[in-house]
Order: sequence, then structure tokens, then C-alpha cells
Amino acid sequence: MTTDKDYELFKKKVKAKIGLDLDNYKEQQMRRRINQLMQKHNVSNYPDFIKLLDNDSSLLQSFTDYLTINTSQFFRDTSVYQALEKELLPDLISNGGVIKVWSAGCSIGAEPYSLAMLLQEQAPKGNWRITATDFDVNILAKAKAAVYPENTLTNVPKHYRQRYFTAQGHDFALSPQIKSLVQFRQHNLLTDKFESGCDLILCRNVFIYFTAETQAALVSKFIEGLKPNGYFIIGCSEMIMDPARYKLKKIRPAIYQKIE
Ligand SMILES: C[S@@+](CC[C@H](N)C(=O)[O-])C[C@H]1O[C@@H](n2cnc3c(N)ncnc32)[C@H](O)[C@@H]1O
Repeated sequence: MTTDKDYELFKKKVKAKIGLDLDNYKEQQMRRRINQLMQKHNVSNYPDFIKLLDNDSSLLQSFTDYLTINTSQFFRDTSVYQALEKELLPDLISNGGVIKVWSAGCSIGAEPYSLAMLLQEQAPKGNWRITATDFDVNILAKAKAAVYPENTLTNVPKHYRQRYFTAQGHDFALSPQIKSLVQFRQHNLLTDKFESGCDLILCRNVFIYFTAETQAALVSKFIEGLKPNGYFIIGCSEMIMDPARYKLKKIRPAIYQKIE
């Protein structure tokens, strides 16, 4: 049996152990996921689960991975990547100067690497930097290794697949050239300092897990870090209520531009 009081204590322990404050995440969804994991390990209450996590560091890491939900794929949502290729990147390239891109909540790296392929095609010797961050160190290690199962490559345009991926057993290894174009680092959106002076920020399929208050606070911080006329892209199932409040104009589904 688990009680609300037990859950409050559990959240405190999780915050102390892995640095993630679950108060910012939608409670029902989070409790459902934690309960599923507890069931899998034959644990019926939070205090016992904490004891288990205390004694098993690999379970603690799988717990972190499980909580943070890492689902991703290359060129996720074709319409967004078409807009990036045909409008947003040409616009940023035509402005001149260094283009600063931040992929926040980058998971396995499929998102920043997709951007690197597009930029490499359009501005091969261009002045651009892609920073990719995530809370989960395990997933960042996978991003840096850059070897992917085929189901993450479904939307990769054929010529990119031929040029930038090599079969490795059942998986596909990304070319060292594209790997070298993305800088990964650990970053907690809830506690760490945000990037500044960005031309393009993607924070896709991350907001859905947060409470409405936390989402609003994060959007404000992202927009502070964006240059005037810079672009902010969220997930296709996500939404910014009243974008003008953040000095944003919606230009396509999931794509916003900072108004000067
Ligand atoms: C569903 S994935 C999205 C990946 C990619 N942006 C995409 O759309 O395909 C969500 C990512 O958000 C990360 N995340 C969750 N909470 C976070 C936090 N507080 N700070 C930074 N990243 C977080 C997770 O680790 C996970 O990799």
C-alpha cells in the first residue's frame, strides 16, 4: 500500500539521490510510471523501493532512465525538419555570423545530429555551433557513442542515410564527421543555468512531462536565451499558451519566432 505521505517522502529522497525534483513533473503520470517499475521489481510501497534503490546503484540508474523517458528518433516530425531545411536555416545562414543552436533534452542525440546533417549540407564550412544537453548521463553516453537501431532512422532522407550511416550488425553507426559537430553536456533544466545568445533552440517532447507552472517558467528562460528573431521549436503534441506573453510569434505548428 502506498500513501500520499509516502510519496512526499519518496520525492524528497529522489531529489537528494539523483537531483531531480519530481514536484515539477505531472504527478499522476509520474506516479503511474514509478508504480509500474515497483511492480516489476515486486515492491509494493515507496519506503521499500527507496531501500532497494539505496542498495543497488544499477537499479538507481535504470530508475533515472525510466523516469526521464528517452524516446526519440532522427528527423522526428517531417514537417518541422522541412521548415528547418527550407526556411529557418537558410534565414539564419543569410544573417551571417555564428549560428548558435541548443538542443535541450536531446536524449540519444538524434535531434542535434539531424540538425548537424542539415547544417553540414547547407553551410559545410559555416560558422555554427550545436550544443546538446540532457539530464540523463546514461543517455548522453549513448548519444556520444552514436550507434542506433534501425527504427530510429525511419525518417532519415535516403541520401543522408547513405552518406552518414554505416551498418554495424543490426544497428547503424553515425559518421565521425557528423559526430564531431555536436557538443554534448549534462544539464538539468530545473536547476542549471540556461544557454544565452542562441539563434535556434529546440526543446521538443520534454515539456509534456512537466506541470503547467514549470512549463511556463522554462519557456520564459528559453526565450531569455534566444536572440531577437531567433527560433524556438517544441514538440508537435506540445503547445505554448499565449505566445505573445513571451514575445513569441507562432509561425508554424510547434515553431515560434522571438519578436524583436
Ligand atoms: C522524450 S525525450 C525527447 C528527445 C528529443 N528532444 C526528441 O524530441 O526526440 C525527453 C528527454 O528529456 C530529458 N529530461 C527530462 N527531464 C529533464 C530535465 N529536468 N533536465 C534536462 N533534461 C530532462 C530526458 O532525459 C529525455 O532524454
